[in-house]
Amino acid sequence: MIILGIDTSCDDTSMALLRNRTEVLSSVVSSQVQLHSPFGGVVPELASRKHVELIDLIYARVLSDAHIGLGNADCIAVTNGPGLIGSLLVGLMFAKGLCVSSGKPMVAVNHVEAHAMSIFLEQEPAFPFLALIVSGGHTVLLLFTEPCQYRLIGTTRDDAAGEAFDKIAKFLGLGYPGGKAIEELATGGKADYVAFPRPMLDEPHHDFSFSGLKTAFVNFVKKHGVTEENRPHVVASFQEAVCDVLCRKTMKAARDHSVGRIIVGGGVAANGRLRVLFQERAAREGVLVFFPSGSLCTDNAAMVAITGSFYAERKLFSPETVRGFSRMVRG
Ligand code: KG4
Ligand code: ZN
Repeated sequence: MIILGIDTSCDDTSMALLRNRTEVLSSVVSSQVQLHSPFGGVVPELASRKHVELIDLIYARVLSDAHIGLGNADCIAVTNGPGLIGSLLVGLMFAKGLCVSSGKPMVAVNHVEAHAMSIFLEQEPAFPFLALIVSGGHTVLLLFTEPCQYRLIGTTRDDAAGEAFDKIAKFLGLGYPGGKAIEELATGGKADYVAFPRPMLDEPHHDFSFSGLKTAFVNFVKKHGVTEENRPHVVASFQEAVCDVLCRKTMKAARDHSVGRIIVGGGVAANGRLRVLFQERAAREGVLVFFPSGSLCTDNAAMVAITGSFYAERKLFSPETVRGFSRMVRG
């Protein structure tokens, strides 16, 4: 089975062709980072206009890289949410056009579910499992019972984890997006230099909150100042607080739901400290943790194609009236 995956949910125009679940025939990700970085964050109207400008070119490129035509594909999988609605609609309408003109079936894919399912491009974790998706837009815990069956059991009540990284990076003048820059700066820093708060750690629910932690960071810097010397320590302490909360709360959710497998995905899952913490604690608790490789953590369309393939195998296709949606709701 060959699936064309399309993702325009935020600031990347992405398409991929996937054969038989694991063979990525081609994958194109056109990043808009340079377009948005002067603004310190994604400007939705600019993002959707750029998608409109690029989508035909990316489509031609993904087919030519794979040396096939759309006629060889069995199905089109496209992200219909959550994300920036103007951006999502560009990919969704493009996919609908392809489906109507070619007669191919369509699968509308949840972007957050796709981050979780990206692991199946490389590994085969057994169900059930818990998925922590941490990106610039989402901090979400999904409990998967089987393919295409999951429940949202926790989410952020304010900022996403990646957003918190991005905001403190902006505050320090490190550019956008800031997660990677923060990680690099934190290398060699003392993670226990500042005792930043661990928000919502002891509460019975599985929700997260990062806005107070970000404020604590800003207040610390305003009060004590940052120098060349203490900057790595302050930043490492912030990174530790985010990773510690993500890790502890996910482990607790796994215990509460009696699952022994955890998948971590989304852009922040590329963070080395987060990976080490999870591996260490998982080993202690006898839980298995799976991370996709770095390039599959950030937005891409191969993850949309693999998610689509699970639905297509079960003939769970979407009607051509399917709509885009911007926010993920608890179900
Ligand atoms: O999944 P993604 O590419 O896009 C969204 O769906 O949001 O995630 C991007 C986010 C940004 O907030 C970025 O700062 C963060 O992932 N990020 C990182 C790292 N690499 C990317 N955060 C912490 N450490 C990293 N190494
Ligand atoms: Zn994403």
